[in-house]
Amino acid sequence: MFAAQTIDSTDKPAFYRELATQLKALLEGESDSVANAANTSALIFQMVPDLNWAGFYFLASDEELVLGPFQGKPACVRIAVGKGVCGTAIDLEMSMLVKDVHDFAGHIACDAASRSELVVLLRDNDGVFGLIDLDSPTPGRFDKEDQAGIEALAAIYVAASSFED
Ligand code: SME
Repeated sequence: MFAAQTIDSTDKPAFYRELATQLKALLEGESDSVANAANTSALIFQMVPDLNWAGFYFLASDEELVLGPFQGKPACVRIAVGKGVCGTAIDLEMSMLVKDVHDFAGHIACDAASRSELVVLLRDNDGVFGLIDLDSPTPGRFDKEDQAGIEALAAIYVAASSFED
């Protein structure tokens, strides 16, 4: 059984280094992309403080994201590329750090409690194919250290998982 170990989150870079170590251990020996996304979202939701949603969206086509494994309230299933924070991240091919979702025109509110949002991309050799989305009820919850930390976790997820049909 995998048991996540509590980590001191006052030093964010150290926190994310330890979380990366735990994620590698959690995904060790498993390449199923759905199972790994499910466990990655569960670990993030359990360990990262002050979240109300953590999960995956995958590109179903060049135009549309579809919901993947997540933790939190039921969420919007399909998001058009270019729409919302998630669709904008895909369109611009960059992580999105939104300090206050009320100030982001076109933000898609899956949970009215969400006040800030962090989206990081999933990339392999063929390019961007999805994203990890984190929501927090606290405005300004995420900073560049959270972004770098979650980007590292996304890379661990991609490296561990097989995306062959
Ligand atoms: N807020 C996102 C939608 C996904 S939910 O937050 C889970 C957006 O604006 O794209």
